[in-house]
Amino acid sequence: MSYLLGLDVGTTGCKAALFSPDGNVVASCTHEYPLYHPRPGWAEQEPEDWWSGTAGAVRELIGTSGVAPADVAAVGLSGQMHGAVLLDEHMAPVRRAIIWSDGRTTAQCREITRTVGAKRLIELTGNPALEGFTAPKVLWVREHEPESFARARLLLLPKDYVRWRLTGVACQEISDAAGTLLFDVRRGCWSEQLLEELDLDRSLLPEVMGSAEIAGQVTAEAARATGLREGTPVVAGGADNACGAVGTGVVRDGLVMVSIGTSGVVLSHSSEPRIEPRGRVHTFNHSVPGAYYLMGVTQGAGFSLRWLRDVLDVRGQDGREAYELMSEQAAAVSPGSDGLLFLPYLQGERTPHMDAAARGVFFGLSGAHTRAHLIRSVLEGVAFSLRDCFEILRSLGTPITQVRATGGGARSDEWLGIVASVLGVPLHRTTSAEGPAFGAALLAGVGAGLYPSIADACAATIRTTTSVEPDPDARERYERAYALYRELYPALRDSFARASEP
Ligand code: XUL
Repeated sequence: MSYLLGLDVGTTGCKAALFSPDGNVVASCTHEYPLYHPRPGWAEQEPEDWWSGTAGAVRELIGTSGVAPADVAAVGLSGQMHGAVLLDEHMAPVRRAIIWSDGRTTAQCREITRTVGAKRLIELTGNPALEGFTAPKVLWVREHEPESFARARLLLLPKDYVRWRLTGVACQEISDAAGTLLFDVRRGCWSEQLLEELDLDRSLLPEVMGSAEIAGQVTAEAARATGLREGTPVVAGGADNACGAVGTGVVRDGLVMVSIGTSGVVLSHSSEPRIEPRGRVHTFNHSVPGAYYLMGVTQGAGFSLRWLRDVLDVRGQDGREAYELMSEQAAAVSPGSDGLLFLPYLQGERTPHMDAAARGVFFGLSGAHTRAHLIRSVLEGVAFSLRDCFEILRSLGTPITQVRATGGGARSDEWLGIVASVLGVPLHRTTSAEGPAFGAALLAGVGAGLYPSIADACAATIRTTTSVEPDPDARERYERAYALYRELYPALRDSFARASEP
């Protein structure tokens, strides 16, 4: 029997999951690691923590699943996008990685846009300069920490670093390279012109592989650290959102994924590299060869609920998780949270505002509101923000035949019900709840020759299961609340900017 191992190097931890070739999960486990906020709006992680989290999760999985290491046919990786991992000549990080949710690079984004020109930047890369992307982070290090930058020889993204630790092979892959802002999304290669204009050395960038291509084999040292068999093939893998799309079967036009992870995402498959003129949704290469996806991102989805869980100090009780208890409390409040609205901009916002200075807001608080209202309004605020993403995709004429839900937040019937009512469409869950780790495992299966293509892998393993319908009564109330929600950011934009001044 052959098994496939999928890894997801996420923001809160690394998930490792083993699957049988028919798509059933055999076992999965997650090892968490720290996220550092050295200043408000900054977000950093230690690449070493990604590796020890990954090695620990795989070791535990191999140790407890009963699957023999020799039966793992291949490994696939997915991971948080955009993080800048700058490595020196010995492959040691020159500093902590600056990750996707970091918002310190507004000045560098302006500089890139000024140097290259807004229109030309979109022509060259398919996207505008946004704080979350990798290139501005690299320029920030060059400007603020020149000694670290002078030692940098190679730029990898988070999962690429972990792949290097597993195989000793340093490369990037297409769906993640697309999110660096150094990649020509239409042509599928590094943009030599942009590199020249930003005065970045081409040698910083490694070879770019296809997601399902075998990048290398597990080394003896990595085998000792993980319990995997030395020589196990490892595919290049994909960005977490590309792998989330593969893992929910969003590999053809008409299918849309809504993901409620740390970030929230609305993603549509596209056979063309269509571009939103204002760049409010991203256009990236998909893991499916020759395909693209358009994606709106809200920075703080699960992140907002986790934040509220921590500040309210909600803990699991009687064998039930804190999030379950929070969902139950939220369900006791009526739709619209009795007038309380939440803007989920704790980490600034990408779609639709593209404003790293935006911050979270509870609006309309009264003495009648309870902690249950706070919880429900966070769930609703994230849903409104996903609606902003959805509306932009719709306005581009994106064909939408079915919307599939994934991510930790989609496990909650309450939250998914709110999102379905706010979007006004049914949301379908699919067979695997393991998210990007499952997509990564399918890529591994294609690389190992178990399936002829990614589409075949999806067809062999993915079915829709339960679906959550919009509630017509709630929908009406949400329409009114959403209209008010849309007024708040424009009213606060200047205040956010002033509040962010040093
Ligand atoms: C996408 C993005 C996030 C991260 C989260 O552009 O920044 O969704 O990939 O892991």
